[in-house]
Amino acid sequence: MKFRLAERAAGFARRASHRRLRFPVPPACGESTISTSVTTDFACQRCIHADCDASFGIDETLTSCPQCGGLLDVSYDWDRVPVPSSLSEFEQRWSDRRNPINFSGVWRFRELMPFAPDEAIVTIGEGQTILQDSPSVAQFVGMNAGRLHLQYEGLNPSGSFKDNGMTAAATHARMVGAKMAACASTGNTSASLAVFASTTNLFRVVVFIGSGTIALGKLSQALDYGATTIQILGDFDDALQRIREVSESQKLYLCNSVNPFRLEGQKATIYRVLESLDWQPPDWIVVPGGNLGNSSAFGKAFMELKQLGLIDRIPRLAVINAEGANTLYQLVEQQGVTWNDGRPDQAKIDQFYSEMDAENRRAATLATAIQINRPVNLTKCLRALDVCDGVVRQVSDQQILDAKAQVGAGGFGCEPASAASVAGARLLREEGVISASDRVVCILTGHGLKDPDATVAYHSTSDESPNEKFTQHGVTEAPFANSPLVVDNDLDKIAALLGSFR
Ligand code: F0G
Repeated sequence: MKFRLAERAAGFARRASHRRLRFPVPPACGESTISTSVTTDFACQRCIHADCDASFGIDETLTSCPQCGGLLDVSYDWDRVPVPSSLSEFEQRWSDRRNPINFSGVWRFRELMPFAPDEAIVTIGEGQTILQDSPSVAQFVGMNAGRLHLQYEGLNPSGSFKDNGMTAAATHARMVGAKMAACASTGNTSASLAVFASTTNLFRVVVFIGSGTIALGKLSQALDYGATTIQILGDFDDALQRIREVSESQKLYLCNSVNPFRLEGQKATIYRVLESLDWQPPDWIVVPGGNLGNSSAFGKAFMELKQLGLIDRIPRLAVINAEGANTLYQLVEQQGVTWNDGRPDQAKIDQFYSEMDAENRRAATLATAIQINRPVNLTKCLRALDVCDGVVRQVSDQQILDAKAQVGAGGFGCEPASAASVAGARLLREEGVISASDRVVCILTGHGLKDPDATVAYHSTSDESPNEKFTQHGVTEAPFANSPLVVDNDLDKIAALLGSFR
């Protein structure tokens, strides 16, 4: 019998078990004041800080709490949402891939991010990503065969995980009628926002980038997709601060991860990981940490799935900083800052930042995507670490580039920042925090072609020809280099060279 999935979705069986909750459920949202046809009245925006807890309608364009300046969540009155009784019910949508919102690897889970009615959704086919077993990367990390999985978010349309979030931000932008969207970026956010604008024509885009730190693949995308690209003479943190100010004064729709709707879409990475693992939670999720949007979104996804009774346990989360951009590591692992039930020690955080400024310490890593001083989602990430019994580690650029070479040799490849997850998993194995039989998922956030310069430089590095930029970042060797071979344009010599590999 042919059935319409939209109708079946509406009929997803409800489940009472989510009333037995381990985590406190936020009080029901007030009715939204939005008065257009796109109203969903069981969603609101809510401040995450325990002493504030202010809530606002989803028709408002906010990137921080107007009352206390804190971060906002999109929050739902789950009692009124038709959530499936089991995650496997989402499998119904696999057979309806001609419907764009069922094809989308984000919106096929729309009951778990129910802030937009179907007709408002903006999708470009994001989220067709793969969970791969790589025996050689498993061996490199020190895992038993079949226990390490690589989640390739670089397979998204713009080549990074950002599309998971941008589809949600673009949807909200459409709901509020935005005509001009903006972001600051180390490269991937801008590429993602720009492709949503070029393919949908819903809004124009302006992107702010820092000086000299954006990988060429990413810059080429923003230019090619027609985004107005403004280079600030400063770093990413400077660019983000400025775009926040400009967005406020010029009424631009801001698409950085301080936009709570963007992070709703990023929860979908977790749903797809679970889908690939037959809905069984792994033991560990390992993710690079930059502005901490992904880790925050993952924590929220797990918190909600557990609240809804859709999973029975929450995996542990490992967030991996680059050594040269290690604010989270310093604050959590060195200074003991925690979520503290929604009251993190802000004085300690402020003190850390004023010392950083006084000593003029600036982030520096070859993993340019995560070269960030002040991660804007810090407090949300603290909550994620709390929910997921998480840990934070830092890895050197040498460890990152070696891990990246292993991902390339044993899979589809990734950009440097992404490989921090594999390097971090390896470190946690060495420490014995992760055991060889655990099931571990490393999130590979960006495509290998984003930063070909880093890849070619690594494979061209040898004792005889060290790379100057690498040396400045402590990368002194390339044990997994696959250097190009040079041979005379002579048939016999070429044959001899090939023969030497037989
Ligand atoms: N990996 C890649 C490839 C990224 O582009 C980013 C962030 C991260 C990891 C860190 O993710 O911020 O969620 O912790 N890139 C942002 C950008 C900052 O502007 O493209 P996060």
